[in-house]
Amino acid sequence: MRVDVLTLFPGMLEGFLSESMLGRAREAKLLEINVHNTRDWATDKHRTTDDRPFGGGAGMVMKCEPICAAIEALQSPGCRRIYLTPDGVPFTTAKAEELSKQQHLILLSGHYEGIDQRIRDTVIDEEISIGDYVLTNGTLAAAVVIDALARFIPGVLGEEKSLTSESFTRNLLDFPNYTRPAVYRGLSVPEVLLQGNHGEIEKWRHAQQLEKTAKFRPDLLKKQP
Ligand SMILES: C[S@@+](CC[C@H](N)C(=O)[O-])C[C@H]1O[C@@H](n2cnc3c(N)ncnc32)[C@H](O)[C@@H]1O
Repeated sequence: MRVDVLTLFPGMLEGFLSESMLGRAREAKLLEINVHNTRDWATDKHRTTDDRPFGGGAGMVMKCEPICAAIEALQSPGCRRIYLTPDGVPFTTAKAEELSKQQHLILLSGHYEGIDQRIRDTVIDEEISIGDYVLTNGTLAAAVVIDALARFIPGVLGEEKSLTSESFTRNLLDFPNYTRPAVYRGLSVPEVLLQGNHGEIEKWRHAQQLEKTAKFRPDLLKKQP
């Protein structure tokens, strides 16, 4: 799979993309990620990518020409062109899985007040928000989308089965996890986890998932079949 990121701040992704599982996935050629500076497609001597908004108001707006030129230069037949934006569709684990099956994604990060609407109308297929808050630019949002989708690419996670019990799989949060020592600061690991009865462990974990989801994310339980 290939992902092209368009950002004004390529340096923000350097460490992120070379560390840990993503770094290994790239080395193993499971995932090709190219980070581009949107400014490289600006044509004036100041490499301008923004301008004042028509109609007035505070802040600047990213211009059509460099972004459209960049996307048109990078796109391939069938690729998905995505703009990261707080007014987009909320990002979910289901969306991450769907995107992980694409051959080629272009992720556009905005800055300032956002981008000219005509970019969205002509060279963007989809708009994604990573949450109900506003970041200074979309580079971290692109990083979040890449990280979440990479986990669904076969071979990226060491142990594939860990995907099946993660939070949001089957609309449940994860169960509590414990490791050694069995007693820490007077707190014991639940007895059922020490007894080796896998049926009982499964039942306990499922009950814990239901309890935690009811407490923190009752909206997820409403989506249960
Ligand atoms: C300051 S924000 C623009 C906010 C925009 N004026 C609004 O109110 O919807 C600048 C850029 O950060 C990115 N961004 C900010 N918050 C985001 C979020 N929650 N999800 C995805 N991208 C976000 C977008 O790329 C956006 O163009």
